[in-house]
Amino acid sequence: MKLTILGGGGFRVPLVYGALLGDRGEGRVTEVVLHDLDDSRLYAVARVLAEQAAAVPDAPTVTATTDLDEALRGADFIFSAIRVGGLEGRADDERVALAEGVLGQETVGAGGIAYGLRTVPVAVDIARRVARLAPDAWLINFTNPAGLVTEAMSRHLGDRVIGICDSPVGLGRRIARVLGANPNEAWIDYVGLNHLGWVRGLRIAGRDELPRLLADPDLLGSFEEGKLFGVDWLRSLGAIPNEYLHYYYFNREAVRSYQQAEKTRGAFLRDQQDRFYEEMRKSDAAALTAWDRTRAEREATYMSENRETAGAGERDADDLSGGYEKVALALMRAIARDERTTLILNVRNQGTLSVLDSDAVIEVPCLVDANGAHPVAVDPLPGHATGLVCAVKAVEREVLAAAESGSRATAVKAFALHPLVDSVNVARKLVEGYTGVHPGLAYLK
Ligand code: G6P
Ligand code: MN
Repeated sequence: MKLTILGGGGFRVPLVYGALLGDRGEGRVTEVVLHDLDDSRLYAVARVLAEQAAAVPDAPTVTATTDLDEALRGADFIFSAIRVGGLEGRADDERVALAEGVLGQETVGAGGIAYGLRTVPVAVDIARRVARLAPDAWLINFTNPAGLVTEAMSRHLGDRVIGICDSPVGLGRRIARVLGANPNEAWIDYVGLNHLGWVRGLRIAGRDELPRLLADPDLLGSFEEGKLFGVDWLRSLGAIPNEYLHYYYFNREAVRSYQQAEKTRGAFLRDQQDRFYEEMRKSDAAALTAWDRTRAEREATYMSENRETAGAGERDADDLSGGYEKVALALMRAIARDERTTLILNVRNQGTLSVLDSDAVIEVPCLVDANGAHPVAVDPLPGHATGLVCAVKAVEREVLAAAESGSRATAVKAFALHPLVDSVNVARKLVEGYTGVHPGLAYLK
C-alpha cells in the first residue's frame, strides 16, 4: 500500500512515519512517497526517517520527489499537510492582524482567513490532480484551516477527502480522564466546525457523565479547558468548548497577550524550525537526535502558561503522544482494512446539522469503514453555538468564492463578516496589508 505525504518536508512527518513503523498489521503501508516543493527540507526529513527505520525490519520504503504528479500516481492514500507561505507566512498572518488590533491566529479570525485565501487555490489544484491521477485514492487533509480546505477539496473529490484534527479527540480524552473513565470506552457528543465545536455530553456505559463534571467545581477546574475558560463560564455554557473557542470568548485578552508577546507563535516556530533545517544542511550530525531535540522544545511550549503566544494549550504527556498522526493512522486503517471505528472528522454535513446545507463541511463523530466516513446523527446545537457556526461558515463561503473569482471585494467581505473583525474599514486594511506581504495573494484583483 502506497501512502503519499504532501508537505513531506514538514517537521511533523517523522511523527507519521513513527506511527507507520508501529503498525505491523496486514494491509499496512509498505511504501511512503514524500512530496515537497523544497528539496532541502525533503532531504532533512528523509534523513530523519532513514534513522527511524534503521532498527525496524520491513520498514516502509521512503522516496522523495518535488514532482507532484509523480507523487500522486498510484497512491492509495494521500496525506495533505502543506503550509502555503511556510511559517514565515504564519508569522505575517499574525503581525498584519495585530497591527490592526485584531487576532491573527493560524486558523481563527483574520489570520485564518488570510491563510485560507492563500491555501485554497493550491488545495484545489491538488484536488483536481488527484481526481485525474489517483481517482481511487483517499485524501486525508490536515492542512489548516482544515475545515475550509477540506470543503474546497470536496468540491472536486466528494467524500473521498476527509479532514482531520487532533483537538476534539484530545478534548474528549481529557474529559474522560478527569471523570475517571477509560477514554476508549467513552462516546463523545461533539459537533461544530473545525476548531469551533463543543462537547455537549460524554456517555459512559450509556450514561451522560458530563453533568457530573459540570456540577463539581474542583473537578471542572482541574483540567486544561477548565483553567482556560474558567469554571463559571463552563457552567453557564453547559458544555465544554474546543480550546480554540478561547479566541472568541476571551478575544480581547488573547489579542492583548499576542500584542505584548516578545514573539508570536508563528515567529517562534519559524525560528525554531529554521535552526533544525539549517543544521541538517550544514552537518551530517545525527538527524533523529536533532529532530527529537527540536520536537521536545516545541512540545515544552504546549505546557507553557502563555498559551496565546507560546503554545496551543497546556497539555500533558499523554495528549502529546495522541496527536494527529494517530488520528490519521486510525482513519487509514479503518478504511483500508474495513475495521469499523468511530472518529471525530471533518466531512460533508449531509443533513447532520439542519441549519447548514448538505455540502458544508462540519466536524462531527463519524462511523468509518471501507466505504469512508459517515456522519452520525447529533442533536442540534444551542442558539449561541448555531449563531457562531453559521457566521463562520458564511465567512468560509466568501473565502471560497474569493479564491474562485479572484475578487478583492469578496475577500474584503470575508474579513468584514467575521465575528472577530469589528469594522469594514479594518477588513479593507487587512486585505491591503495581507496582499502587500503575501505573494500567494497576488491573484486578488
Ligand atoms: C493543534 C491543532 C492543529 C494546529 C496545531 C498548532 O494540534 O489541532 O490544527 O496545527 O495545534 O500547533 P503549533 O505547534 O503549530 O502551534
Ligand atoms: Mn486542528
